[in-house]
Amino acid sequence: MAQIGTDIGRAKAILEAGELIGFPTETVYGLAGNALNTNAVMKIFETKNRPNFDPLIVHTGSIDQISQYTHPIDGELQKLAERFWPGPLTLLLKKKPNISDHVTSGLDTVAVRVPDHPLALDLLRSIDFPLAAPSANPFGYISPTRASHVQDQLGDKIPYILDGGDCAVGLESTIVGIEEGQVVIYRLGGTEISAIEEIVGKVLILPQSSSNPKSPGMLKSHYAPRKPFILGDIRSLAEKYAASGGKFAVLSFDTDYSALNPQASFILSKSRNFEEAARNLFSGMRLLDQADVSVILAEELPEEHFGKAINDRLRRAAAK
Ligand code: TXA
Ligand code: MG
Repeated sequence: MAQIGTDIGRAKAILEAGELIGFPTETVYGLAGNALNTNAVMKIFETKNRPNFDPLIVHTGSIDQISQYTHPIDGELQKLAERFWPGPLTLLLKKKPNISDHVTSGLDTVAVRVPDHPLALDLLRSIDFPLAAPSANPFGYISPTRASHVQDQLGDKIPYILDGGDCAVGLESTIVGIEEGQVVIYRLGGTEISAIEEIVGKVLILPQSSSNPKSPGMLKSHYAPRKPFILGDIRSLAEKYAASGGKFAVLSFDTDYSALNPQASFILSKSRNFEEAARNLFSGMRLLDQADVSVILAEELPEEHFGKAINDRLRRAAAK
């Protein structure tokens, strides 16, 4: 199993040797390696069983470092970088040749972000290369939001997990690019669309596609538990499963459904707080996935604040 700790020096030495670590950020934990080392980058794909057509996000410790790896940032995106970095925002920028095609899956853009987590920033500022880091989960499974989640699934494949506690945001970064002057959102996430629109005006949210190899975070089925995950009206779904004698778990926004006698249940936020719901989402899904049930029943949230991004994850978890 991996060692878990807060030793930046140890993490740095492992990364310098071309090995991988579990890496805390404010969104989810990453599986990090030296983005300039092709072997390390290939190990990332192998370790999480990720198809090589799904490009990686490159993390740096400051905006200034990014110009080493990308062409100058477009004015609109520059405004977003200045407003939201460090933070849960990823920008798609034209790459320089020192970022290899392995990182970008052959695309001429590279996804970059400055994470807002003290340990992550200390580490990034102590090394002289950027870190490629996808979420530290096996491809297609629920993303990890604490060190033990990484240990459970990838602990036998990496030497060290840097423990930064529970992720404060709990949803992956919002991915933003620009096409012919129009700001485009490729993935809903931890930076709200309304906050982005306050800076750059109306954005285009790319229709969610099941077959867009350019942005597989948008694959129809993703973030999924191993158990069947069904989204709908919990009351009527529960009646159906109870009638057939099946054991079920319930994932709800704020409602207590214990009167329906679920085998296990998880409430995302009793006070209907969207930030709390986002923080709890992936650990709640994991908990229910481990319960002794044959199905997980869940409901959508109102489409406001993080509700939209949370519903996006719930729908992909439910997609077959
Ligand atoms: O919050 C996050 O973004 C976390 C933490 C660890 O930083 N990382 C993360 O990485 O969610 P990952 O690999 O699970 O998701 C990255 C998404 C993928 O859907 C990938 O397709 C998209 O970013 N992506 C990366 N480079 C891209 C590019 N050049 N063009 C379009 N999409 C890109
Ligand atoms: Mg992921």
